Amino acid sequence: MLLEVVLIFLSTAILLVIYFRWNYGTLEKLGIPVVETHFLLGSQSDFHKIIGHERDYEWFETHGEIYGVYNGRQPEIHIVDPEIVRQILITDFSKFVNRSFDLGTKASSVLCEIMDFIKDDKWRTVRATLSPMFTTAKLKRLNMDMIGATDNILNLLMNDVASAPNKILQDYNIYGDLFAIVLDATARCTLNIKIQNPRSPDNDFAKAVLELTPQKSFFMATVLNIFPELEE
Ligand SMILES: *[C@@H]1O[C@H](CO)[C@@H](O)[C@H](O)[C@H]1NC(C)=O
Repeated sequence: MLLEVVLIFLSTAILLVIYFRWNYGTLEKLGIPVVETHFLLGSQSDFHKIIGHERDYEWFETHGEIYGVYNGRQPEIHIVDPEIVRQILITDFSKFVNRSFDLGTKASSVLCEIMDFIKDDKWRTVRATLSPMFTTAKLKRLNMDMIGATDNILNLLMNDVASAPNKILQDYNIYGDLFAIVLDATARCTLNIKIQNPRSPDNDFAKAVLELTPQKSFFMATVLNIFPELEE
């Protein structure tokens, strides 16, 4: 009996190790430098402790313009060469369908229709239709909209500081203001409307956006990163 329990335990452990390490070696075979991996958890087992883009920059400095990373079990190639990025995103875009993240089955059907999440030929069609809309002139206008939304919140923030005791803000919630900036910039860029009071959680646009996004706990996000199949 004891022997059987030990055997079952051991074989489960071995199977899990094989599952976690299944893709190791894929990137190495391509002959590109690969970021050192954890025994089980891919290149980045501490991503709850670090700032993603700073880590990316360190990797770029150590490994160069093209390097491999295991994101959990998922092999990824990171590219920093602007010419190759241009080829992937513009010249040969139709060969690079499917973004690397999925919403899962619980997401709202409206959200599933946006470009980040549609797949294959549907993505190609939408992408080819949208491309001509993003002319340099249009992008400049969107940029102005984003700057406008940012300035708006920055001005409110400066007023808050000016009227705070000793000009020091207590308990300032930066996430609230970042959300307000993104919200207002989105409304300006997509619908050409300004949100009256972007800081208030009661405005209809904020409510609509929050309704669209599935709330996932941080722990679940980590688990799903390793076992994407669970999302179904
Ligand atoms: C894109 O994703 C869909 C759905 O997950 C899948 O069926 C298809 O094979 C993927 N296409 C490519 C080129 O990986």
